Amino acid sequence: MTWLITGGAGYIGAHVVSQAANSGLKTFVVDDLSTGISTRLKSEIELRKFSLQDTSSLQALFQEHDFEGVVHIAAKKRVGESVERPDYYWQENVVGYQNLLGVMAKHDVKNLVFSSSAAVYGEPNESSDSLISESTMCSPINPYGETKLECERLSEAFSGETGAKVISLRYFNVAGAGRPDLGDQYIFNLIPIVFDALDRGQQPQVFGNDYETIDGTCVRDYVHVQDLAKAHMDAMEHVVTAQPFYLPINIGTGYGASVAQVLAMISEVTGQKIDPIVAPRRQGDPASLVADVSRAAEILNWNSEQGLREIVSSAWDAWQLSHK
Ligand SMILES: NC(=O)c1ccc[n+]([C@@H]2O[C@H](COP(=O)([O-])OP(=O)(O)OC[C@H]3O[C@@H](n4cnc5c(N)ncnc54)[C@H](O)[C@@H]3O)[C@@H](O)[C@H]2O)c1
Repeated sequence: MTWLITGGAGYIGAHVVSQAANSGLKTFVVDDLSTGISTRLKSEIELRKFSLQDTSSLQALFQEHDFEGVVHIAAKKRVGESVERPDYYWQENVVGYQNLLGVMAKHDVKNLVFSSSAAVYGEPNESSDSLISESTMCSPINPYGETKLECERLSEAFSGETGAKVISLRYFNVAGAGRPDLGDQYIFNLIPIVFDALDRGQQPQVFGNDYETIDGTCVRDYVHVQDLAKAHMDAMEHVVTAQPFYLPINIGTGYGASVAQVLAMISEVTGQKIDPIVAPRRQGDPASLVADVSRAAEILNWNSEQGLREIVSSAWDAWQLSHK
């Protein structure tokens, strides 16, 4: 049977679709291509281009296909844009998801994996060396994080009302590429921002070097997108066999890398000298955000396998393909 992957032409979605194909799972993609790229998908993958705002297209699709489950990845994800356009983010991320859940309920589709984010935690009020577990209080600090938390609430209610089996995967900092043509082509995260600066012959900025961390720069948990895609396979397998439940699960590595450590790795991989410009701290940038990944190990038997070197070198290969 076929799994519906929303947002399957996006950076993460295309990795999930590719890994599903390698595992012998059939997928069908719905994507409005607002930020997705159709050529990320091999020709044998069926793609239907429409927005989750379009309930009648969703209804028609579920009438045509008997889906085993849904991996809901489609969303708008730019934090800064969400601050400028909170209503748009609510409409796209929350209302779009409500449409999908309504159609799933009507067609009795009960297996669901939802793409959530560590943004639901906001700035956890914990010491800089403590890990963030799923029981850490959720308190998003921007509209993007609020939409993710609201979608988690909807997921839990959906499970309670319909008997669905639902996992929300709370991704930490996703980076790297499984293949050069699947890389993240946008310049919103640290690694592409540094690549872009280097390409322009500029030095990257580091926001704050006086945090209470190993070297004073912020620490984040970088997870390879291939490992993340594997977590989806494990979550899909788990929901199919489980009793009705709802569970959020962190997906990270369980250890952090500081901005300075990431820059050092980029310098090593690219062979370019990096001498960053130190700028003041940014508001809303906690010292350290590192996942406690014990639940992923316990429930999904999942652990990350790739480290910072693999993340940076695969991201660099992808960057060179798409920016030269
Ligand atoms: N990239 C990260 O570091 C990260 C971290 C945490 C969570 N996430 C979440 O993972 C998911 C995927 O992120 P990504 O990095 O692959 O982003 P992306 O922008 O590459 O992928 C999103 C995909 O969804 C599609 N889409 C957006 N709105 C849609 C709509 N209304 N209808 C149909 N399709 C729509 C886009 O065209 C795109 O293909 C998002 O839900 C995001 O919030 C990403």
